[in-house]
Amino acid sequence: MSNRLLGKVAIITGGGGAMGGAQARLFSSEGAAVCVADNRIEKAQEVADEIIHSGGKAFATNLDVRNADEWATAVSKTESELGSVSLLCNNAGANFRVGFEEQTEDQFRLIMEVGLNGAFLGIQAVVPSMRRSGGGVILNMGSLAAIRPGGGSPGYAAQKMAMIGLTRSAAHSFAKDNIRSVVISPGHVDTPFLRGNNAHSPNDWDTSIDNPENYAKRLDGTPLGRLQRPEDIANAFLFAATDDAAMITGSMITVDGGAGM
Ligand SMILES: NC(=O)c1ccc[n+]([C@@H]2O[C@H](COP(=O)([O-])OP(=O)(O)OC[C@H]3O[C@@H](n4cnc5c(N)ncnc54)[C@H](O)[C@@H]3O)[C@@H](O)[C@H]2O)c1
Repeated sequence: MSNRLLGKVAIITGGGGAMGGAQARLFSSEGAAVCVADNRIEKAQEVADEIIHSGGKAFATNLDVRNADEWATAVSKTESELGSVSLLCNNAGANFRVGFEEQTEDQFRLIMEVGLNGAFLGIQAVVPSMRRSGGGVILNMGSLAAIRPGGGSPGYAAQKMAMIGLTRSAAHSFAKDNIRSVVISPGHVDTPFLRGNNAHSPNDWDTSIDNPENYAKRLDGTPLGRLQRPEDIANAFLFAATDDAAMITGSMITVDGGAGM
């Protein structure tokens, strides 16, 4: 631990999930105070409890990122419990792994509303607080789908490609406020998003990496020879959050073991 985030306050959406949870733990171990936000409050609470148990400062809050009022509440709770916000990690995401002709309008909408509208509303809600902090960093979750979306879920392709535009628009708009904005694109990360059967990311034997064939396909597509771990991605979020990345804004950082080449 080197206290690279000492005095910083972070809001981490999807904080009850695998990658958001890894960021919350890592940011806390570097001295940040963390608001762990998720619409599965019990998962967010587990992460916050773990951080508090390790001597860090955190609280969990129920947040559906699609709802602007819930964002306003989450930001004001964070300000009163931890102080003004300096870091925002937009991880919350959804996917339905069906092709163009099978994806329903409701599925398409949900993917866009959680991943894209959710990040947009989060940025709008958090920027005034970041200004009160004297600046900040917005970290958006991208994907291989932001590089080469392929022929899978059209909603996911559109949502993750759009994160590049949203990131650049925020970077441009808020540079004058000393606020940077970066999109980080993982490759294949071994998490419940790819393995489990969750409401926000359903999987069955045909899609889950529990199926050895699916696992092998993703592994074969990763030149560095292993799937990523949530901690691999959290390390890039940490780098982008610190002054080591002081001149990085509007950019995409890929952490994909070479999968996007
Ligand atoms: N796992 C991968 O291979 C991979 C690769 C690239 C990008 N991603 C992206 O990473 C992000 C995190 O995924 P993960 O792999 O950690 O999966 P995860 O399922 O563990 O985490 C996703 C989290 O988002 C939360 N969430 C869903 N809808 C929400 C909403 N409306 N409001 C608030 N929270 C909501 C879920 O409750 C969950 O905790 C997603 O945006 C996903 O698209 C995943």
